Amino acid sequence: MPSTPTARPRRYLMCEPRFYDVRYAINPWMSADTPVDHARALAQWQSLVDTYRSLGHAVEMLEPVPDLPDMVFAANGAVVVDGRVLGSRFHAAQRRPESVAHHAWFKAAGFDVREPESVCEGEGDLVPVGRFLLAGTGFRTSEAAHQEAQEYLGVPTVTLRLVDPYFYHLDTALFALDDENVAYYPGAFSPGSREVLQRLYPDAILADREDALAFGLNSVSDGRHVIVSPGATGLIAQLAARGFEPVPVDLSEFHKSGGSAKCCTQEVRSA
Ligand code: ARG
Repeated sequence: MPSTPTARPRRYLMCEPRFYDVRYAINPWMSADTPVDHARALAQWQSLVDTYRSLGHAVEMLEPVPDLPDMVFAANGAVVVDGRVLGSRFHAAQRRPESVAHHAWFKAAGFDVREPESVCEGEGDLVPVGRFLLAGTGFRTSEAAHQEAQEYLGVPTVTLRLVDPYFYHLDTALFALDDENVAYYPGAFSPGSREVLQRLYPDAILADREDALAFGLNSVSDGRHVIVSPGATGLIAQLAARGFEPVPVDLSEFHKSGGSAKCCTQEVRSA
């Protein structure tokens, strides 16, 4: 029987959506003519920050850069395991300059940063779960980057193939509940990858397509509290039934760009 869900204080890096917008379309959620309500986006993001802080987590800020409308999605800039930072190399040209800002932030904060040679979108596709690094590919991060991650971070890296363009990053289809278990939407993965997940996590929470489309899998868990999209009602019920505390935070303005809570949150895992 799994033990009672227990929170661990976390250190998060976030980026204020001062220049957030949907100006290009690099995933099926985005349409350059969808207007963003900027005041609402800012308020939703601020409530995410306030929620983390009220739960006792540290939130640090990356300074936003004009003309980088996706920079609010701080998860994509790097992945940090045991104080080792693997930077990013974005698939889309529009996002490439974001890597520079992340690199500079980590350097200034005293970390060594390794720049990947292949396309690598940070925690968007590289999800640390206890002793493994789950690594998505198919739309953004390349398999070569999974190898780079394993070699640099020294963590067994498990390649998972994404097959549905609505779930183009691993963190739109799966999140870590704690160091031992995950929640995911099986339909986002190839048959072989589904089997891998089933072997590694026989007790996983399985979400349906409706909850996945509501960005339910783009959640952030501290081991007990799960920041979750309020539209993912089935998943919320399953989390509660397992003893987790769902904390709904509405980030609907960011869904227009294909992101939600996890995309806005980079976890800085110390050594
Ligand atoms: N518009 C952004 C993109 O397509 C959204 C990124 C969402 N981030 C994430 N971690 N899934 O790149």
